[in-house]
Amino acid sequence: MLVGGFGTRLRPLTITTPKPMLPIVNIPLLELELLHLKQYGVDEVILSSGYLPDVFDEYFGDGSRLGMKLIHVTEDEPLGTCGAVKNVERFLGDDTVIVCNGDILTDLDIAALFSYHMEKKATVTITLTPVEDPTAYGLVPLHPDGRIKEFLEKPSWDQVVTNLINAGTYVIDPKVFQQVPPNQNYSFERELFPSLLEQGVPMYGFPSDCYWLDLGTPAKYLKAHHDIMERKIKIPLKGKEIFEMVFAGDDVVIDETARINPPCALGDRVRIGPRASVGSLCCLGDDVVVEAGASIEGSVILDGANIGEDCVIEGSIVGKNTKLGKRVHVAEASVLGDNIVAEEDNEFRHGVRIWPSTRIEAGKIRFYRTD
Ligand code: GTP
Repeated sequence: MLVGGFGTRLRPLTITTPKPMLPIVNIPLLELELLHLKQYGVDEVILSSGYLPDVFDEYFGDGSRLGMKLIHVTEDEPLGTCGAVKNVERFLGDDTVIVCNGDILTDLDIAALFSYHMEKKATVTITLTPVEDPTAYGLVPLHPDGRIKEFLEKPSWDQVVTNLINAGTYVIDPKVFQQVPPNQNYSFERELFPSLLEQGVPMYGFPSDCYWLDLGTPAKYLKAHHDIMERKIKIPLKGKEIFEMVFAGDDVVIDETARINPPCALGDRVRIGPRASVGSLCCLGDDVVVEAGASIEGSVILDGANIGEDCVIEGSIVGKNTKLGKRVHVAEASVLGDNIVAEEDNEFRHGVRIWPSTRIEAGKIRFYRTD
């Protein structure tokens, strides 16, 4: 499981938390990924980390809480996707391995993928997923028998021969790692896979129409929450279902004049004040406080954040322990990092991103319309 990236596109959330440890409906993404693998009998996982490695150890330890064995290997320098697996080669033995990018939310049928790999007698099988705009990705066209024809990096529209892209989950015969240079940054996508194809090694694509989302950007982070709450992917929601499609953790207090619009997920000890409105499509972490008259829609509010009186939060993300004064407005996929204090009457729009631990005095930030 590759979890060593910097997650730059998801900053500022990833300044303080590595991307695979960001909560998705109040459960770290990596925990969802590990539980997904466990359903298919995977009981031993090597975590290949680099950036903020201690966060993984502190949360998962040796994996026994999940009933899995976790081996944690940290790189001093980023070794790239393939270099990272080469770096843990000593743990692989001769067994066929599954390599997963640690930033993918999916319900991929791992058993079907594995059987396909075995049936085809493949050396490498790459899971493929269809996308609407293939020009932003690396395409993987196939021969009719499923063998990979070529790798097309970010093609123009006239080169688009398939809508299938590399979905970041591979089944690999570990003997191929013998040809990967050790202790060197090396990529599956740009280096090992094209080289193996040139050598005529049997490489197959496994097209799947499973749910698939890579959590690269704030928009996708929000989409993951929305899709789970709309049941586009069946991830169990934490807590009790207190109304239809409103899930709440322990000791949640909701004022009787507040409105909760489903679907919504509320963590433990959430407090929602008088006349506040929460939802639809909101996820509030543990210990979040929503003061009187505040309104939150389509947003993710992380643990311990405090949303002041009459704030409006729309389609945005508020980081851990961030405190918003009265009438703060956060909209249009803006992202506030952790531990920010934004005093009253500030406005955040147009996807602005505010770095963790910033303090913003009252009324400092405003957006004016020029049209
Ligand atoms: P961006 O910086 O926003 O592109 O995100 P990222 O750093 O996560 O990169 P990317 O999305 O391309 O990475 C795909 C997966 O591979 C993620 O799960 C990363 O954690 C992981 N990954 C990327 N580079 C490395 C690396 O050098 N070492 C290890 N161990 N994992 C990596």
